[in-house]
Amino acid sequence: MKSSRIPGFYKMPIEERVNAVKEFAGLSDEEAALLTSFDGLTQDIADIMIENVVGCMQLPLGIATNFIVNGREVLVPMAIEETSVVAAASNAAKMARPEGFSATVSEPVMIGQIQILHPERDAEEKLLERKDEILSLANAQDKVLVKFGGGARDIEARMLSNDMMVVHLLVDVRDAMGANAVNTMAEAIAPLLEKITGGKALLRILSNLAVHRTVEAEVTYKKDVIGGEETVEKIVRAHEFAALDPFRAATHNKGIMNGIDAVVIATGNDWRAIEAGAHAYAAMNGYGPLTVWEKDGQGNLHGKIKIPLAVGIIGGATKVHPMAKLSLKILGVSTASELAEIIASVGLAQNFAALRALATRGIQAGHMKLHAQNIAFMAGAKGDELDIVARKMVEEGNIKMDRAKELIDDIRKNKKI
Ligand code: MEV
Repeated sequence: MKSSRIPGFYKMPIEERVNAVKEFAGLSDEEAALLTSFDGLTQDIADIMIENVVGCMQLPLGIATNFIVNGREVLVPMAIEETSVVAAASNAAKMARPEGFSATVSEPVMIGQIQILHPERDAEEKLLERKDEILSLANAQDKVLVKFGGGARDIEARMLSNDMMVVHLLVDVRDAMGANAVNTMAEAIAPLLEKITGGKALLRILSNLAVHRTVEAEVTYKKDVIGGEETVEKIVRAHEFAALDPFRAATHNKGIMNGIDAVVIATGNDWRAIEAGAHAYAAMNGYGPLTVWEKDGQGNLHGKIKIPLAVGIIGGATKVHPMAKLSLKILGVSTASELAEIIASVGLAQNFAALRALATRGIQAGHMKLHAQNIAFMAGAKGDELDIVARKMVEEGNIKMDRAKELIDDIRKNKKI
């Protein structure tokens, strides 16, 4: 049986890592070559993705190993510029084995908002009376979505002030992120809503606070695997800090989003939408943490995340960007819901890794090696010099550009360092 547990993956040369991923995910020679080329996006594709293209801003794509989500072994592609995130996710996933993460999703229902100014008094009742007519008009805009089992499901109306109403159109968008389908429907039904309410429609746009499209993921860490009961207690107290203080909650959630965004970006999804939804959701009852960590009956650590995740596997960059297509293939997902389940699990793992590090040895120790390599690189170190200079700076506890330059000079003058 294939396993995402690939011992020593981090130590392999890049080509060997690619071969391991190729074998795991059944990639073709061309797909594996695309990974090793470090050149995922061609000029032609970039030029049709956005306007005024002049170049390409690349990010490293790493693979988080060890994940098991709902009993399935998964390798997780993560696109991110920050050191330690991929290693931390892999390590957190390793400690969660062999059970791994379990996750469930709601139906993929998005909200389209239509703002109505100056509605008549009985507008809300009238809207509900003519709900079927409104939903059929919405569904007439996207026959393909309806054919695949999605479509407009319901409407809700609320007065926001004396003269402003909002109508929510709830749309099951299946495997799409949903913005296009929902916005098209919202625009199409606005004239009918004006007629029914006697008001004037102004904005017609999807809401990123996707409260009807949520994912829950859970994990249990055995106390002996993560450093004993003391570590369990410390992580529970770290969570309590975030629950009591929005300043900490923001950083706690940032750590979760390190993992979530990296997979969202790797799969070509809209990470601004995910960020907006996550933080708005975290703020619904006063800003708080998106995860909960508790000690269970056996003294083990139980963690849970609930988060809105509007991600798709069709449409947009997911099907245009060659690296996004490849990332989806590596993940082996066949629905947007499955992708969301993996992403939520990665967010939970990332949060665990950050809290464990923060509550025990502190975050800096783990960051130092890669940070030192970055500094060595910026100071001009090449090839083997990178490791030698970085190691020396970590040993000395002095990771500075000046010191890196001195060390590079020493190496080039054949001085022993
Ligand atoms: C750094 O990118 C993320 C952390 O600050 C998250 C946290 O504090 O929980 C380490």
